[in-house]
Amino acid sequence: MAKGEVKSITDLPGVGPATANKLIEAGYATLEAIAVATPQELSAAAGIPITTAQRIIKAAREALDIRFKTALEVKKERLQTQKITTGSRNLDDLLGGGIETKTITEFFGEFGSGKTQICHQVAVNVQLPIEKGGLSTPDKMAKAVYIDTEGTFRWERIEAMSKRWGLDPDEVMNNILYIRAINSDHQMAIVDELFNIVPKENIKLVIVDSVTGHFRAEYPGRENLAARQQKLNRHLHQLSRLAEIYDVAVIITNQVMAKPDVFYGDPTQAVGGHVLYHAPGVRVQLRKSRGNKRIARIVDAPHLPEGEAVFMITDYGIADPED
Ligand code: GTP
Ligand code: MG
Repeated sequence: MAKGEVKSITDLPGVGPATANKLIEAGYATLEAIAVATPQELSAAAGIPITTAQRIIKAAREALDIRFKTALEVKKERLQTQKITTGSRNLDDLLGGGIETKTITEFFGEFGSGKTQICHQVAVNVQLPIEKGGLSTPDKMAKAVYIDTEGTFRWERIEAMSKRWGLDPDEVMNNILYIRAINSDHQMAIVDELFNIVPKENIKLVIVDSVTGHFRAEYPGRENLAARQQKLNRHLHQLSRLAEIYDVAVIITNQVMAKPDVFYGDPTQAVGGHVLYHAPGVRVQLRKSRGNKRIARIVDAPHLPEGEAVFMITDYGIADPED
């Protein structure tokens, strides 16, 4: 990824062994981590003057080719985004082909609507070869990071979903890096750390299930709404930079309560809503239907077709009713 002479942080001008150690200890072990830091952050973390921090950041950005691009270059890069199958053709079609890299995809809906099941399924599917809807190449397995904030990750489900594709379940589990986030600060720190981990491993998918749980619990009520949203926005921004810089797909989930007392409009739209208000990304609303059927709908996405997709949660994972 790095251009020219600068391949690691010790190649940056002004970074001798002592500064390099300080940067690494402060969590800035890669060019990518430095490129996305602010001079203030870096200066405080590594105990270096602001001007030095500015110079280091500039050099890291140049090395990583973060610069003005023409619209044509943007087009070409955009067309290179890759897609991961959800396991349901209906849902893939609704998403314009699947879960996209360089993008945050938010699944929101009431309890039991299938958010966590989709997370499990896509963590398996990303490991499939490209021609089968995953992002693994013959020489490199695609891996996933699973940030679990609610303790609802089940390896048994990964096992069942792997067998469906004839994959070795242990191998699949070996390629899922799991971590339980204990509170919102920890959740945010994990994402910061990913700027160092993602480029070293071939991680193509990052899941945060759920993105909102800790924030809701720690900032309850209307009086805390502004503080909560501000912190959550910072978190979403970090995730969106992660997606963009490393060409990974990010999936976040958000529980939205159904409101039984509305007489018109959409009953699940009422309380909570989606969290990606201003952040770029795709928002997918999920609702329960009869039995194990679920209905997905894209919200606020002018570039995707309108409409709904019906999928199913089966013993072997996310599938189509027609299967
Ligand atoms: P919350 O996290 O509570 O907001 O819900 P969620 O949207 O994450 O729901 P989740 O993805 O956990 O979906 C739960 C539903 O999946 C259950 O109600 C079951 O219908 C279904 N499900 C879970 N495990 C299995 C399984 O092993 N077999 C089948 N057939 N269905 C399952
Ligand atoms: Mg869940």
